[in-house]
Amino acid sequence: MVHFGQYIHTVKSIGNIVCEKGLTELDFDLEEIEKAGFEHFMLKEIFEQPEVMQDVMRGRVRLDEGRIQLGGIADQLERLRDAKRIVICACGTSWHAGLIGEYLIEEFARIPVEVDYASEFRYRSPIVGPDDVMIVISQSGETADTLAALRLAKEKGAMVVGICNVVGSTIARETDCGMYTHAGPEIGVASTKAFTAQVIVLTMLALALSKDRTMTDGEVMDALRCLNDLPERVKRILDYNGEIQSIAEEYKDARNFLYLGRGYNFPVALEGALKLKEISYIHAEGYPAAEMKHGPIALIDEEMPVVVIAPKDDTYQKVLSNIQEVKARGGRVIAIATEGDEEIRELADHVMYVPEGKAFMMPLLTVIPLQLLSYYIATLRGCDVDRPRNLAKSVTVE
Ligand code: AGP
Repeated sequence: MVHFGQYIHTVKSIGNIVCEKGLTELDFDLEEIEKAGFEHFMLKEIFEQPEVMQDVMRGRVRLDEGRIQLGGIADQLERLRDAKRIVICACGTSWHAGLIGEYLIEEFARIPVEVDYASEFRYRSPIVGPDDVMIVISQSGETADTLAALRLAKEKGAMVVGICNVVGSTIARETDCGMYTHAGPEIGVASTKAFTAQVIVLTMLALALSKDRTMTDGEVMDALRCLNDLPERVKRILDYNGEIQSIAEEYKDARNFLYLGRGYNFPVALEGALKLKEISYIHAEGYPAAEMKHGPIALIDEEMPVVVIAPKDDTYQKVLSNIQEVKARGGRVIAIATEGDEEIRELADHVMYVPEGKAFMMPLLTVIPLQLLSYYIATLRGCDVDRPRNLAKSVTVE
């Protein structure tokens, strides 16, 4: 608790004028001020995302010129475009953003991408050399494993590009070039706004690599418009906050959760499960939806809630079949679906809606209800969401 001043009362006389001065002690908590009326930093950071998204894109998404401008890598763009392969290295949530980056860069720029846990990359004999480009992603810019992977790749002659949030951090300084995420300080240990900012940077990078090569001007323009509309769509999801809170009430006592998603939404399933584990201490697993039949289906019963990310996309019908398989085994389903989808309401026990959007944009929408669901489940269980047990915001040791 920080006390701002204390009560002081003075009376001064200047000639025949009497001045009375009073100073009142304000019992403010600095942390409370920083939380701007939200109960926790995590909730504040979830709700900040529409503004953060605008900050990430400001000056970079140039709708009038139909292109992306990434100043931090402008001089190296050709080298990146000529890369034989891009290797993305990161940890935790940043690794999930990297997986989405793989889908984006391969779809748009047609450059092969591999995504590695930094901790694994550094302890095997990775094949990496001057024809490769490594992208390291880190909110803090201080994660020990990511830093070690970066140094190893540089030693082997690869160019290393950084995507960091903390300006001037070690990773930002040691990379050859890079892009900041401009998400502002992230205080909650569970990463939320930094994740969506990382995914936007990767989307912009994939588009910058594609322009005049693998995408037409019209296709790039369409994608830029989608990015431009994104903050408004996210605001709409945040308006469903109350409904998500009620769903959390029903599931707060569950002991296990399964998260399923396909394509761009598979990494979101991993991220949703990680968020829940970190702050509520409920065991949760993320899986590609089609892999369920290869094992996790054995776990399904009435005690196993299944979160299924099922927006209207190319795999929608297949994901609906997964929901039917879960229901047939007595499982409870929370679906994330496209607004207006009534069919899914018939099948699932609960639905959390997101606005429609192109497949590549979906992670930036579908992750929002998952962040809120984890937050509400954890607070209902009485957990300290901003400082979960055993976790540090920045893992600077092995
Ligand atoms: C995210 O919610 C976690 N706290 C954690 O997985 C984190 O993303 C990971 O430690 C990587 O951190 P970094 O982005 O700062 O490198």
